[in-house]
Amino acid sequence: MKRREFLLGSGAAAGAFGLGGWSLAAGDAAQELVLQPASYRLREGLTTGMVSLSPDAPPPVLYGRQGEPMRLSVRNTLPDYTSMHWHGLRIRNEMDGVPYLTQMPIGEGESFTYEFTPPDAGTYWYHPHCMTMEQMARGLTGVMVIAEPEQPGFDSEQVINLRDFRLDEGDAFLPAYTARGAARAGTFGTVQTANWQGAAVYEHTAGSLVRLRVVNTDTTRIYKLHPEGAETRIIAWDGHPVEIDLPVPTADEPLLLGPGQRVDFAVRMPENEGQSADLMAKFPGQPHRAMARLRANGASAARDLRELRPLRANPVARPDPNGAELHEFVFGWTPEGGAPNDGFCGTLGYSFWSINRKPWPGDAAQGTGPLAVLEQGKSYVLRLRNESPNLHPIHLHGLAFVPLRSNLRTLPPLMTDTMLLLKDEIADIALVADNPGDWAFHCHVIEHQKTGLTGFIRVV
Ligand code: C2O
Ligand code: CU
Ligand code: CU
Repeated sequence: MKRREFLLGSGAAAGAFGLGGWSLAAGDAAQELVLQPASYRLREGLTTGMVSLSPDAPPPVLYGRQGEPMRLSVRNTLPDYTSMHWHGLRIRNEMDGVPYLTQMPIGEGESFTYEFTPPDAGTYWYHPHCMTMEQMARGLTGVMVIAEPEQPGFDSEQVINLRDFRLDEGDAFLPAYTARGAARAGTFGTVQTANWQGAAVYEHTAGSLVRLRVVNTDTTRIYKLHPEGAETRIIAWDGHPVEIDLPVPTADEPLLLGPGQRVDFAVRMPENEGQSADLMAKFPGQPHRAMARLRANGASAARDLRELRPLRANPVARPDPNGAELHEFVFGWTPEGGAPNDGFCGTLGYSFWSINRKPWPGDAAQGTGPLAVLEQGKSYVLRLRNESPNLHPIHLHGLAFVPLRSNLRTLPPLMTDTMLLLKDEIADIALVADNPGDWAFHCHVIEHQKTGLTGFIRVV
């Protein structure tokens, strides 16, 4: 595949529905993803020193199909080490992309071929898991769409990759984090983008049905979102179909989308050309702002949301929490200081956070055991206890789980891989430990992850 064709898949051009040309069907040669330096106009000026998979565009949307094998060869041309993780995909442990836990880091000039078959359809994403802070902050976060065998009846799709960049007045990168931020809520970006654009606008047919896939790939920010200007429904959450009626978020009651989380909306485009359906976001101290605008185009297709067929549930085993063994995890500050070990995958130089009062000692540290050992095939309840005033999007690799209860709120039973834990929240989640291996378990605020709030769970 030539680079030009490949670029058609970039977020900036993802309005079209025809996936055929570059979906990754069985038998295809590996698609090569080349990590390389990039430049882009995120604002007026050109920002250099970015990291992407082409010199001048965001990481493309990668398309696969449920139950069909994918081969992705990651080639690293950067002087730093890397590895690639496929967030939310329940695949074999060896393909999970976590340095030292599942593979060695990929050095300069080296490649690693990832081969897996996504069992679930939905909206997922990819990002490095080595030099995570630096490479993600500089742009290397992309969306992955796993299509259902049968499309439920949309006219088109729109992928939105939400993320901040930390730029100075001259559009050059600021340091990706501060010690002050890492020890608190994280260090926020200065420029908010959708598909690397400050004000993204996409054309879709008036009156048509659009599947809007929104992914928060930011390193820090919890986005507060609501749709405006069109009839809208939430149809999937963190990749998995939503089987209950969820309220549509509003300006007063926005949706909190933490780093790593995804939401799929079914949008019925406005009836008249020029009207728009907007994805609104609220940032502290600012009025609501449209992060992405879907502009109605042409004569009305006169579709109706009720024409959509429901998404078929993914083949995730339903846990039976009754009598299930309970494991508790406490997320909080670290009692010890000390810098985590570097081991080629980057350290921020601090230990601020911990799970069960032990900070993660660094990716390459020896003798670090699992936080819990689960028996394959059994149901478990995990109690997540936040002993800090900050919010933590807690992410588990390789397995999907269902929230059960919280001391603070009613949790809808939505299958997920990333749970946004509120201040002082104690939440129980349940899962079936059906995928063997060592699965990373960490906060997706990367500064928390990299300063101690990390561990892994073993399924044997
Ligand atoms: Cu999205 Cu361990 O990662
Ligand atoms: Cu993950
Ligand atoms: Cu956190």
